[in-house]
Amino acid sequence: MLPNSGKVVGEDADNQLTVVADFGIESELFGKVLQVRGDGGKSQPQYEFDEYSTHYVLFHNCEPIGSLTATRHVDGKIDCEEFYPAVLFDRYGEQLASICKFRIRPGSHSGMKTFRMMVRAVWRDLLHSGVRIDVINIERSNLAAFRRIGYVVIPDAEFIHPTLETDSVAMILSADPTHKSFFKDLFETEVDTPVLMSDVLQAVELSRTSAGNNATTGSTFQQKPREEGDKWTGYDVYQSDSRNVREYYDAVNHCLSLALHESLTDRCQLALDVACGCGTSTRIISRFTDRVIGVDSSWELIQTARKQGLGNRFEFVHSSFEDFQHERRAFDLISASWYLNYLHSEAELEASLSKIVSLLKPMGTVAFVIPSASYALPTVQTIAREEFGWQQASLETQPDFTRVVFSYGRQWITTTIWQPLKLMRLFDKWFRIRSWDVKGTLAHERRLEMLNTEPPFEILYGTARKNGDK
Ligand SMILES: C[S@@+](CC[C@H](N)C(=O)[O-])C[C@H]1O[C@@H](n2cnc3c(N)ncnc32)[C@H](O)[C@@H]1O
Repeated sequence: MLPNSGKVVGEDADNQLTVVADFGIESELFGKVLQVRGDGGKSQPQYEFDEYSTHYVLFHNCEPIGSLTATRHVDGKIDCEEFYPAVLFDRYGEQLASICKFRIRPGSHSGMKTFRMMVRAVWRDLLHSGVRIDVINIERSNLAAFRRIGYVVIPDAEFIHPTLETDSVAMILSADPTHKSFFKDLFETEVDTPVLMSDVLQAVELSRTSAGNNATTGSTFQQKPREEGDKWTGYDVYQSDSRNVREYYDAVNHCLSLALHESLTDRCQLALDVACGCGTSTRIISRFTDRVIGVDSSWELIQTARKQGLGNRFEFVHSSFEDFQHERRAFDLISASWYLNYLHSEAELEASLSKIVSLLKPMGTVAFVIPSASYALPTVQTIAREEFGWQQASLETQPDFTRVVFSYGRQWITTTIWQPLKLMRLFDKWFRIRSWDVKGTLAHERRLEMLNTEPPFEILYGTARKNGDK
């Protein structure tokens, strides 16, 4: 039996599914919520916030089979509020809710389609009450499913759930019709005042990197220590986890490989891969040399690289490049993929380049994978979020560089996107430098066809000049 009170907020007549909503714990509907939550003998089916939340029950043929709860911040403290960034409440408090405690009875209607229908009904109902942002926490193992729906990870907001004791990750979805989500069409038709995901993410980051850090609601959200090694945790998993990301790195490494192939007529003896990470770029370089040394400041990534058992042609050194010690003029080839963007001043660039020159044999070869000028464009940011699962927010734009924070899901990493032309001018002192035709390669080889924009990376490569050679 459907309850006599409450309102119907969603219906799927073909499958005899109905979603009914009611507020608080005094309603007949809340009894059904407890029934569903209590399934499987779970303890503590009732929570403090139930009293001031809206409850949604999914009925199949009048039988309650699913339940969900949504708490608006304006009505009271939301579940796990202390783990979310304070700025969300300060800036978006009136528009913020949390959909939580989803339960569904196992059976023919427990699939993604039913979940989607139910959450859609809930979102529509929340939109009508002024909600524009949903902040949730989910168990890490469910991350991919929520990403597919359109939810985005809040970097650094990771915690052990206080009652469930699960490894939890905080995610948000805002009513943004420009962001790909299961509810995009709903946001297009029912929302006059959208809240863009990029604005929310930027607000979160800026609150931590600037004086905005004094945002206060008693939240315990804090910046984690920013050690280099910590920042790159899980990068190896990110690189290999989704097909789009794999294809992306494959395209980058393929272009690097073509550039090296053109530069090096003969196989060389010794190469250095600066900022080698877990060794993906090192493996590419190894095709052109007898031995290769990879150096990286992330302890975890160096361990991962070593564990791959690549053999004695490979050596992985845990050190920042600045502290890396090696005999001078030893390397035939020095390559650095995605390294120059972690040098944040011209002085750092100059110091690194002169170190590279000192380690390189006369006439040695260099290759750099760098973010292209288009890396910071809004279109690329959208593609990055939707296709590649990374996000970024802009911090500063100057004639020679754009500074952003970038994240592949765990932490924000400050990245300086140097204008490629600026770098080429700087390199000119030491190297005869060229830029690989990345766009031509991608177009001719039909790679990364989802990129409807200038490619976000460039390959600069060349040979060291003889003294005074111009
Ligand atoms: C995006 S990853 C690229 C990894 C690898 N080159 C690849 O293409 O797969 C960037 C790497 O730069 C490393 N890194 C950043 N600054 C560094 C520094 N000063 N010295 C050594 N490694 C650094 C980080 O630890 C991280 O592994």
